[in-house]
Amino acid sequence: MPMFDGDMDFENRIVAPENTFEDSEAEVSLRPKTMGEYIGQPKAKENLGVFIEAARRRGDSLDHVLLYGPPGLGKTTLATVIANEMGAGIRTTSGPAIEKPGDLAALLTNLSPGDILFIDEIHRLSRVVEEILYPAMEDYALDIIIGKGPSARSIRIELPRFTLVGATTRAGQLTAPLRDRFGVIVRLELYSPAELATIISRSAEILEIPCDGDGSLELAKRSRGTPRIANRLLKRVRDFAQVLGKGVITKEIASLALDKLEVDDLGLDSMDRRVLETIIRNYGGGPVGIETLAAVVGEEAITLEDVCEPFLMQIGFLGKTPRGRVVTRSAYEHLGLVFLERQNFEQINLLADLAENGEENTGN
Ligand code: ADE
Repeated sequence: MPMFDGDMDFENRIVAPENTFEDSEAEVSLRPKTMGEYIGQPKAKENLGVFIEAARRRGDSLDHVLLYGPPGLGKTTLATVIANEMGAGIRTTSGPAIEKPGDLAALLTNLSPGDILFIDEIHRLSRVVEEILYPAMEDYALDIIIGKGPSARSIRIELPRFTLVGATTRAGQLTAPLRDRFGVIVRLELYSPAELATIISRSAEILEIPCDGDGSLELAKRSRGTPRIANRLLKRVRDFAQVLGKGVITKEIASLALDKLEVDDLGLDSMDRRVLETIIRNYGGGPVGIETLAAVVGEEAITLEDVCEPFLMQIGFLGKTPRGRVVTRSAYEHLGLVFLERQNFEQINLLADLAENGEENTGN
């Protein structure tokens, strides 16, 4: 459970978008079942709606779908919505859980026609497992080698027409042959505060948490565009409303609670601030390479890229350049720091060096 303690590590951030056990339990009860209930992602919903309707009219299975985007945006939820809309069953697994080709073969041979096989973190499938998927996706068949050496032979097992729904935070890490076998590729975007406020109001109603409109909006503004974070903050802020308020989440209670949880008015937590401040203080605002930054902050580059950066970039605090990450003027302003143009920063450093070395500044 993500509890607050003054100096949180990355996994324990209250604004971490990764799924925790507590989230999973809550998400199941909060999960929308139909496209109509699913809030936000208008482009994804519109296109998927057409493909689903077309497949249904043809009496065919839906083409394979790849969902990608930052964690916590509802990829698993969307997969279950797709299954419901298709009137199909769904089997859920994840890339790292499928260890051997036989594990995948067992899953595939147990599907019924039209079923959805959902593979989360599909970029983490091993190569040998991935190779079983190619004919399964393309020809609805499994090619199995029986025996070894000269007596080895290949047999083909027919599979039902199923739909693979793959989810990943990093579409770029998928191999080209796997990516090319998805007919539909959908990118999920961070949610707007208005969309998140609607999600929070819906969750509050289901969980019977009294929360007024301004309270939802305040939570929404601080949820980093991510429903999973919004739903988690809702539950934590409810505790503050019960103990410090009158049981209702109002703007004031939400604001007070989130300040105590060290989530600032834009949803940045101490980790985001540390990343930005490191770039500013150690590298004059950047550019700095992601590996260097990760080493200084004490995190894995992949975590920074998946978890921290999408939101900081979305709000215009961080930019990516070919030479590395740079912090923008608005991030300086948000942190209450004075923005120095790169040139000025270098000049000040030079003057400091000169002063330290006891040499005169010649003005050159
Ligand atoms: N809960 C989490 N994500 C949601 C969404 N997109 N719509 C409705 N409820 C949600």
